[in-house]
Amino acid sequence: MELLCFCLFVFVSHVQSQPLLSVVQQHVELSTFTQYVNSSSTLTSLLSSANDITLLAPSNDAFQTWLEDQSPPLSNDQIEAFLIYHVLHGVFPTVSLSTEPQFASSFLTDTQYANVTSGQRVELLSTIDGDPQIVSGNKSISGVSTKDILFTGGLIQIIDTVLTIPLSYVILVTQANFRFVVAILTAGGYLSTSDSTLVNAVLYRPNMTFFAPNTQAALSAFTSLAPTLSTSQLAATFNYHAVPNFIGYSPLLTNGLQLQTVEGSNLTITRRGNETWVNGARIVVSDYLVANGVVHMIDSLLNPNNTAGPPPLLPTLPPSKPHLSAASKIGLGVSVPLILLVFAGGIYLLVRWMRRKRVVGETSLRLEVEAASKMNRRYSSVQELDGGSWEAGNFGYRQHYRLDSALSSSGSEKWAVELDGSGIR
Ligand SMILES: *[C@@H]1O[C@H](CO)[C@@H](O)[C@H](O)[C@H]1NC(C)=O
Ligand SMILES: *[C@@H]1O[C@H](CO)[C@@H](O)[C@H](O)[C@H]1NC(C)=O
Ligand SMILES: *[C@@H]1O[C@H](CO)[C@@H](O)[C@H](O)[C@H]1NC(C)=O
Ligand SMILES: *[C@@H]1O[C@H](CO)[C@@H](O)[C@H](O)[C@H]1NC(C)=O
Ligand SMILES: *[C@@H]1O[C@H](CO)[C@@H](O)[C@H](O)[C@H]1NC(C)=O
Ligand SMILES: *[C@@H]1O[C@H](CO)[C@@H](O)[C@H](O)[C@H]1NC(C)=O
Ligand SMILES: *[C@@H]1O[C@H](CO)[C@@H](O)[C@H](O)[C@H]1NC(C)=O
Repeated sequence: MELLCFCLFVFVSHVQSQPLLSVVQQHVELSTFTQYVNSSSTLTSLLSSANDITLLAPSNDAFQTWLEDQSPPLSNDQIEAFLIYHVLHGVFPTVSLSTEPQFASSFLTDTQYANVTSGQRVELLSTIDGDPQIVSGNKSISGVSTKDILFTGGLIQIIDTVLTIPLSYVILVTQANFRFVVAILTAGGYLSTSDSTLVNAVLYRPNMTFFAPNTQAALSAFTSLAPTLSTSQLAATFNYHAVPNFIGYSPLLTNGLQLQTVEGSNLTITRRGNETWVNGARIVVSDYLVANGVVHMIDSLLNPNNTAGPPPLLPTLPPSKPHLSAASKIGLGVSVPLILLVFAGGIYLLVRWMRRKRVVGETSLRLEVEAASKMNRRYSSVQELDGGSWEAGNFGYRQHYRLDSALSSSGSEKWAVELDGSGIR
């Protein structure tokens, strides 16, 4: 007990002797950062009084690269805003980071730069290899070059890239090249000045979650739907992709969660394995930070008139391969005029032999898939087929399958799988 007290005392007194600014000044690789802090009374007072914080301090190299990239050069006020975004509420030692991201709030609340009322966030995680990563606007990634430097009231992580302040939704979709979203916004007239009051009220509102449909399928669905909609219905469609007063970073999107959209009706979140679905749309990339919240890229258009959830799980049969059957290859050979009769006879026998094998393969695959389906173990069984016998046997095949959803609950779905035999040796 005495020893513990003594250790605590040593620990605490050591920490007390190291206020943040003097720790920062001791690190030569932070001299550019120190210079900016010295020249800003806001930063000096923030950093000398803050408690329970993590400072993400860019190294001199990080600063230099970043400053060179700025055109036109940033004003001191802008640099100050960037540095305030590097100060986080809460202490985040690198061991507390995992592959599950955390979204730490920074001190950046100036509405000129951010409309996340609790402070613009920074995503913290670590790779599977245990390397800490700090993710900011446009998913730019900073690594930690010197970890866990202690001071009174928190920690410093020295980072190798200056963080990017998240910009608006409209700038993000251009920056990150969400080309189908851009096409949808354009086709919907959502960015035209005549609609701007309607849409801007949503786009720039504080504390938002946006779902951004960024696939060809979503664009096609939109372009066929749009001509049938009035201006207010178009707005309703847009608004069904936006959730107000809630910033749904991925860890907050729990299974069964209902989110009321700007349009008025709800979206339902479904978690399945490591996938997250919004109604019937799957989140393809989550957590793009924007000035007023977060954007998740989804694979299809959301429609308030179709609130169905994700499709039932289908077994993932191996992809089909382009096929030219053994028989037709041989057919070509036979059409060459000067072929010897004996050789043709040999080919004929070979084809017969292969056909027989093909039928055997087809039958056994059908049986296995049907059996798996009846036993209600279709997912694992099909993976067995997938990774096991078929690959190993080098079979070429095509697959045609249909899950009759009406029958699926009774477990009597049928799978038809056709082999083409091209890979049979
Ligand atoms: C910052 O100011 C402190 C004293 O306030 C001084 O010791 C230090 O040298 C200054 N650093 C830079 C890089 O200007
Ligand atoms: C924050 O919201 C205000 C008012 O809604 C708006 O004027 C400002 O441009 C927004 N800031 C950003 C960075 O989007
Ligand atoms: C934004 O959300 C925060 C909490 O997440 C809340 O304190 C704040 O009032 C909200 N601001 C607005 C303008 O809705
Ligand atoms: C944003 O990120 C994308 C993808 O990582 C990249 O291609 C693009 O250049 C970035 N845009 C800016 C402006 O940094
Ligand atoms: C919609 O979601 C809100 C907020 O999550 C919830 O309070 C409300 O009951 C939901 N409405 C319906 C019809 O499910
Ligand atoms: C989701 O899980 C599957 C298999 O369980 C894996 O192959 C895939 O890479 C995972 N995806 C993500 C985004 O983690
Ligand atoms: C949804 O259905 C209503 C009533 O049938 C219709 O007025 C509205 O345009 C539909 N909305 C969309 C986005 O299809």
